[in-house]
Amino acid sequence: MKGLILCAGKGTRMRPITYSLPKQLIPVANKPVIHYAFEAFAGVGIKELGIVVSDNRGDIEPLLGDGADRGMKFTYIDQPETKGIAHAVLCAEDFVGDDTFLLYLGDNLLQKGLTGLVDAYGRGGQDAAIMLKEVPEPQHFGVAEVKGPQIVSIEEKPRKPKSNLAVIGVYIFNPKVFKAAKSIEPSARGELEITDTISQLIRMGCEVTHHIVDGWWKDTGRKSDMIEANRAILDDVKGEIRGRVDEASSLAGEIVVARGARVVRSRISGPVVIARGAEIVDSYVGPYTSIDTNVIIENSEIENSIVMNSTTISGVSARIESSLIGSNVVIEKSKGRPRVVDMVVGDRCRLALP
Ligand code: G1P
Repeated sequence: MKGLILCAGKGTRMRPITYSLPKQLIPVANKPVIHYAFEAFAGVGIKELGIVVSDNRGDIEPLLGDGADRGMKFTYIDQPETKGIAHAVLCAEDFVGDDTFLLYLGDNLLQKGLTGLVDAYGRGGQDAAIMLKEVPEPQHFGVAEVKGPQIVSIEEKPRKPKSNLAVIGVYIFNPKVFKAAKSIEPSARGELEITDTISQLIRMGCEVTHHIVDGWWKDTGRKSDMIEANRAILDDVKGEIRGRVDEASSLAGEIVVARGARVVRSRISGPVVIARGAEIVDSYVGPYTSIDTNVIIENSEIENSIVMNSTTISGVSARIESSLIGSNVVIEKSKGRPRVVDMVVGDRCRLALP
């Protein structure tokens, strides 16, 4: 079985971060979000991965490489226009060939990985297997109607959902999917929908089975999703102190202080991860915070946040909360009088000041 990850989306909902970093590379617990997908594929023995990209290829390919460093083989596939998930699948037809493949929307995060879906598919005879999740507001997703192990109907964002089972963006198909995708028309939003493709498979008499996700599932399209995903990952983190923590500091809960990181006269309340080269001085770092490499936090308080590499936060009097802070940012107390807010703020930033 091959893998296919869709990464053509531009991450417009994550601007300004995505002006300089593809959204798949935004760190969650100090690791790019797409690395969790690679680990999930590795967990089910899939080593050959097609990565569907758009004009973001120049940013993504150099950062992800050819996969050799993790024993995988990455093939980059161009989707010149983002015209839907089924369109992306058609772009990958040559890559897939006669194989079955596991399709994965690049901004998904799954606590329990892909084994459940691969097992459901492996139970025999099916042409497709779709991962589903019970959600409170299914009308925002593709929605499946199931009968025993089979999916009997599927609709894209229906006004009156037939169940609360959302299609979450992880699927297994055999090559019959290409015939189905070629025989559908674009939807009202101008996309070739994967849900319409699955309906077409069902009409063709194909067997479509499902697996209902156990454990959490996160879609990381928006800042609030990123913060939540960070919380979910940090909930499972095991503490490990390899860096230097001085005696005047106090630590409680699960905390990772990487080798080469330093905590001085500070209070850290886990779960928190602090990457190498980071320095926390005279500060408070509260639960669910990820501090990436070479970040400096001094005389400040922060919690439930992601701080990307090489950023400095210094002397900020308000506690920073639920924030996603990019790399090489400086947030500091203004010096001198009058006390003013003095900023260089790029396009589409959002600042909430006390
Ligand atoms: C897409 C699919 C939808 C699925 C969702 C999962 O929707 O079309 O069936 O439920 O991903 O995130 P989109 O995010 O393109 O609106």
